[in-house]
Amino acid sequence: MRLAGKVAIITGAASGMGAATARMFAREGAKVVIADVLAHEGAEVVASIGAAARFEQLDVTDEPNWEAVVASTVRHFGRLDILVNNAGVSGSAEQDLYSTAAWNRIMAINATGPFLGMKYAIPAMVQSGGGAIVNLSSIAGIIGSEGIHMAYNASKAAVRLMTKSVAVQHAKDNIRANSVHPGIMPAMRTSGRTAEPAVREKRMGVIPMRRPGEVDEVAYAILFLASDESSYVTGSEIHVDGGAIAI
Ligand SMILES: NC(=O)c1ccc[n+]([C@@H]2O[C@H](COP(=O)([O-])OP(=O)(O)OC[C@H]3O[C@@H](n4cnc5c(N)ncnc54)[C@H](O)[C@@H]3O)[C@@H](O)[C@H]2O)c1
Repeated sequence: MRLAGKVAIITGAASGMGAATARMFAREGAKVVIADVLAHEGAEVVASIGAAARFEQLDVTDEPNWEAVVASTVRHFGRLDILVNNAGVSGSAEQDLYSTAAWNRIMAINATGPFLGMKYAIPAMVQSGGGAIVNLSSIAGIIGSEGIHMAYNASKAAVRLMTKSVAVQHAKDNIRANSVHPGIMPAMRTSGRTAEPAVREKRMGVIPMRRPGEVDEVAYAILFLASDESSYVTGSEIHVDGGAIAI
């Protein structure tokens, strides 16, 4: 098994790509903490996995909450090896693309959230002798997009660069950090315009592979970066986008 003996925290794992990643990690031998604001959906993911999984209520914008979740993970599973910062919200439901409130909310969840996660996970990883951090950015963290609040682009670009910063600063601690950049996937819970069939169809037309991605196609990239198979890969990024930004 590719993650035997490892302990992972996955944020936003009550839904979508986070849930798919949690199930895949557990199949590969990891103990997984499903950390999310959605308690009911999180409990369902835990039930589908069994004893290798635990739910922790986590709002990624809440610093004391992060500190408590990392401490509780180490108390329960004895160590922390992997952090997947996956929780996020879309910027495509906003009516006002210059809303300051939306800017603050999206940046808090998508950028400050991963920052706080790394702030508390890194000391626990040091205690475990090292670790792997995988941060979910997006192709929208590399190129601009139509019809979304620019906070989504800015937050995902912040994730991309803070990943490289951690990779440089913590290589000495045997901690690797990499980012994953999905393209068009099943819509997020918080998607607005980009979930509309006509908009998706139009966006699909410019993707070389002419289809959306599947959640497991992203989870496999996360699995590789979380596992020891990627032991010499840090500060790097994988685009899981059907070739969207290769054009
Ligand atoms: N779906 C896409 O098209 C797409 C494309 C590129 C990147 N991404 C990124 O991938 C990640 C996962 O997206 P998804 O498609 O699975 O979306 P999703 O909406 O299905 O899942 C996101 C999860 O994050 C959780 N979450 C939101 N705010 C939170 C908070 N404050 N604290 C804790 N948890 C919170 C939600 O409850 C949900 O379970 C996100 O970071 C997203 O930006 C998604």
